[in-house]
Amino acid sequence: MEALKGIKILDMTHVQSGPTCTQLLAWFGADVIKVERPGVGDATRGQLRDIPDVDSLYFTMLNHNKRSVTLNTKKDEGKAIFIKLIETCDVLVENFAPGALDRMGFSWERIQEINPRIIYASIKGFGPGPYEDCKVYENVAQCTGGSASTTGFRDGPPLVTGAQIGDSGTGLHLAFGIVTALFHRTTSGKGQRVTAAMQDGVLNLCRVKLRDQQRLAHGPLNEYSQAGQGIPFGEATPRAGNDSGGGQPGWILKCKGWENDPDAYVYFITQAAVWGNVCDIIGKPEWKEAPGYATPAERLDKISAIFDAIEEWTKTKDKFEVMEICNPLNIPCGPILSMKELSEQQSLRDTGTIVEVDHPERGKYLSVGNPVKLSDSPSDVKRSPLLGEHTDEILGEVLGLSTEEIKAAKSAGAV
Ligand code: COA
Repeated sequence: MEALKGIKILDMTHVQSGPTCTQLLAWFGADVIKVERPGVGDATRGQLRDIPDVDSLYFTMLNHNKRSVTLNTKKDEGKAIFIKLIETCDVLVENFAPGALDRMGFSWERIQEINPRIIYASIKGFGPGPYEDCKVYENVAQCTGGSASTTGFRDGPPLVTGAQIGDSGTGLHLAFGIVTALFHRTTSGKGQRVTAAMQDGVLNLCRVKLRDQQRLAHGPLNEYSQAGQGIPFGEATPRAGNDSGGGQPGWILKCKGWENDPDAYVYFITQAAVWGNVCDIIGKPEWKEAPGYATPAERLDKISAIFDAIEEWTKTKDKFEVMEICNPLNIPCGPILSMKELSEQQSLRDTGTIVEVDHPERGKYLSVGNPVKLSDSPSDVKRSPLLGEHTDEILGEVLGLSTEEIKAAKSAGAV
């Protein structure tokens, strides 16, 4: 059975961060009712369109398994319906600009008054403090949460990463907070306010870099290749290129075909326990016991040269051959897989992590399914709703409005 069956989510989210959260809840079986402005809808429906007049992939890939109701929550007739939705739902989720829901007349106090059991969950760019009123998008969060300052090469500018750790990452954090609050409600009987700030979410994902910031006070970060190259550290955790974030040195190395294929690379980790195996495959058996090479500590000051030597070997194999040779020897490594390769990987299709979805207006497209698998509660990915596709059904079946009342709401422009 679906794990969150029976839980109703009043989904006021838009763009990426909030929709990621409510999509996860929907995949786990919650009834997610997405509220959108009549005639407008979530702005992403129209952004980055690949087919004219058809909901974009940006929208469809973030709004599976939801129902869409149009509602103008700034009109009195719309507010009356919104109050009924608050009464009916278990969770309200929103990621509007700071204060937007209060400006509509729905403060946390008012929402609690309407339904003391409701959980009110929000994503904002920043928590309380100097930036709390700012609007925030993905890369702003990556930059203000510590990711950009620690991503890229030491001698280059800060870089943002392709993984949407600000938006989708914060959506994941919020989903965890909501499920926790739902669990707490089973004993307290009360809802509570759940907030997740994007800056905080990114920082949480960058906690190993805050670890290194504090280690800097006690000397150089020896496992950073910068240390081996004799380059002094500054006051803050530096950008470390492709250095591993942990205690086992790693780097991205060229593989056969790298001259023409931008993804012909492998991540290679020189794990201490299998150093002998690494030496054997690259044809340097003498390094196993050689002074200056035998222990991880001795190798640190020549780690870049060691990776150069390993790369001479990886350049003779394609990235999959490297993996096939290294895996049986317990040498951890990973080919750099392109989006094209991932979209074609059969095992991801088999587990439902990549799914093909059929949409009435755009036809078939690929999406990422639920990456979290529950043994008794499989997630079936259903296409995203068209704008207002479920308005009548939600007003009638969920809220119990009569046909006349629905007609009146429509003629008032509230839905
Ligand atoms: N009926 C009537 N009005 C509605 C409505 C509805 N169903 N849904 C939204 N609105 C209104 C809002 O109340 C707001 O009005 P106001 O400005 O008078 O208060 C207006 O639409 C615009 O909402 P807003 O959230 O300000 O959208 P935006 O496009 O200007 O900003 C973000 C977008 C993402 C920058 C902003 O929402 C934000 O900072 N959100 C929090 C952080 C976040 O999640 N960022 C990442 C997004 S992926």
